[in-house]
Amino acid sequence: MPARARAQTSAVGSVVEVVQRIAIVGAGPSGFYAADQLLKAGFAVDLYDRLPTPFGLVRAGVAPDHPKIKSVTRIYEKTAAHDAFRFFGGVELGADITRDELLARYHAVVYAYGTARDNRLGIPGEELRGSHPATDFVGWYNGHPDYTDLEFDLDHERAVVIGNGNVALDVARMLVLATEELAPTDTADHAVAAFHGSGVSDVVLIGRRGPAQAAFTNPELRELGELSRADVVVEPFEAELAEDATPTARRNVEILQEYARRQPGDKTHKVILRFCLSPVEILGDETGRVSAVRVVHNRLETGADGRVRAVATDQQELIECGMVLRAVGYRGEPVPGVPFDADLGRIPNNGGRVTGPDGDPLRGEYAVGWIKRGPSGVIGTNKKDAADTVAKLLEDAEHDRLGVPGDGADADAIAAWLRERVPGVCTWEGWLNIDEHETAAGAPAGRPRVKVVRMEDLQRIAAGA
Ligand SMILES: Cc1cc2nc3c(=O)[nH]c(=O)nc-3n(C[C@H](O)[C@H](O)[C@H](O)COP(=O)(O)OP(=O)(O)OC[C@H]3O[C@@H](n4cnc5c(N)ncnc54)[C@H](O)[C@@H]3O)c2cc1C
Ligand SMILES: NC(=O)c1ccc[n+]([C@@H]2O[C@H](COP(=O)([O-])OP(=O)(O)OC[C@H]3O[C@@H](n4cnc5c(N)ncnc54)[C@H](OP(=O)(O)O)[C@@H]3O)[C@@H](O)[C@H]2O)c1
Repeated sequence: MPARARAQTSAVGSVVEVVQRIAIVGAGPSGFYAADQLLKAGFAVDLYDRLPTPFGLVRAGVAPDHPKIKSVTRIYEKTAAHDAFRFFGGVELGADITRDELLARYHAVVYAYGTARDNRLGIPGEELRGSHPATDFVGWYNGHPDYTDLEFDLDHERAVVIGNGNVALDVARMLVLATEELAPTDTADHAVAAFHGSGVSDVVLIGRRGPAQAAFTNPELRELGELSRADVVVEPFEAELAEDATPTARRNVEILQEYARRQPGDKTHKVILRFCLSPVEILGDETGRVSAVRVVHNRLETGADGRVRAVATDQQELIECGMVLRAVGYRGEPVPGVPFDADLGRIPNNGGRVTGPDGDPLRGEYAVGWIKRGPSGVIGTNKKDAADTVAKLLEDAEHDRLGVPGDGADADAIAAWLRERVPGVCTWEGWLNIDEHETAAGAPAGRPRVKVVRMEDLQRIAAGA
């Protein structure tokens, strides 16, 4: 389809045809789904990412032992093959370029930059050595350059994972994978080495509410019971399922009850799931390293809104451990210049149209994905989410409500501006160089890729060196 064009009056008064070009900031699933839909609607799309590598959490979040899920990138590669698509990697909005600079060059800007920070527990001891947000651990084992130099001390027997979502399951599983389960993955080499030397044999997962309220999805919970060297341990329990409990919650309870009925296993490692416990303090030893988590036992109470709440009792318990991973959800962080709702941790928006302080939509600014709706939902959720935002953008285009870029904002001028601003800007061809390098490095060992984990190496390889 030819690129969508619009008549615009130039600075010297002549009417020119201008290709309608959209900047999308963030090359994760939501950015790619939005790009695909906008390209199909006839727009030209420039997709920006702060990393030279695309795919967001598909590359840096999804667990390395889930290669099938990561293969969704094949769909994004098809989007990138479109003539009117360009990738500008290694360009950070708010650091290398500003919101105003984008608005001056594009008919619209779509924010798709995700929610990379961790939620806090707000309890004493959270900052002790050995207490980490799962966001850091996930970034580290997935070879995200920001997390490569972190250190995780695995020289102890027990790790505690706080939270009952799929990220908690991911990090628990990664801690107990057997060598042969880890070997065919694209886990970053520094993490493979650390996992090989790990002394962690028990992982205790703590949920503040009950089995029926866990946020796990069924296949992920079932997978936990099929690990080659780790038994899953659940105490027998009675679960009260609400009448309107979702099929996922009902199935989770069945899976957990099946785990509770299992005979004690004799595998070398254990994943122990415990419920109705809230951490109240993380304790350290004399060197300042995590030594235990103090938890309080909760009872469950259904509020007037129908939500089941955890209410602390006066029974407490100490769980000794050498590491705590806090997997209690992600959080957006503000990007300088872009509207941000600090309470909700995302960009204020109305169905994808970014809104200003008065709640009215801002001309030519949109949001998709986790930074639009918050950090929940699987990869596919972002497709419908992007479609909803793109529908709003198309409606605005029909009514001439998009932005009006200034003169000199054509494709070549934008590329020249970026090359000047970010000399190492990585194009799609640059990413293909990285991809080829990584997959070639992985092939001899039957791995999908060996990740390049340092920014300077990524930039060098992208440049063809
Ligand atoms: C640990 C983990 C594991 C997961 N595993 C699965 C799974 O197995 N299956 C599944 O279906 N879903 C999984 N999910 C959920 C899925 O990853 C998300 O639904 C999805 O990635 C959200 O997409 P997004 O595009 O909104 O954000 P992201 O994927 O986070 O992409 C945001 C992109 O924006 C870029 N960016 C950030 N700031 C800037 C900036 N200032 N300038 C330019 N670029 C910027 C980032 O580098 C990133 O590439 C997982 C999530 C997590 C956290
Ligand atoms: N394989 C996959 O498909 C996969 C893998 C990873 C992630 N994802 C998706 O990515 C999204 C994010 O996952 P997530 O695990 O980060 O978030 P999540 O699903 O929202 O789970 C967060 C967990 O943290 C708990 N929690 C929050 N605050 C807490 C506190 N102060 N103390 C104790 N517990 C607390 C929550 O308990 P309450 O319920 O009590 O609030 C919940 O159990 C989800 O949609 C998930 O399905 C998918």
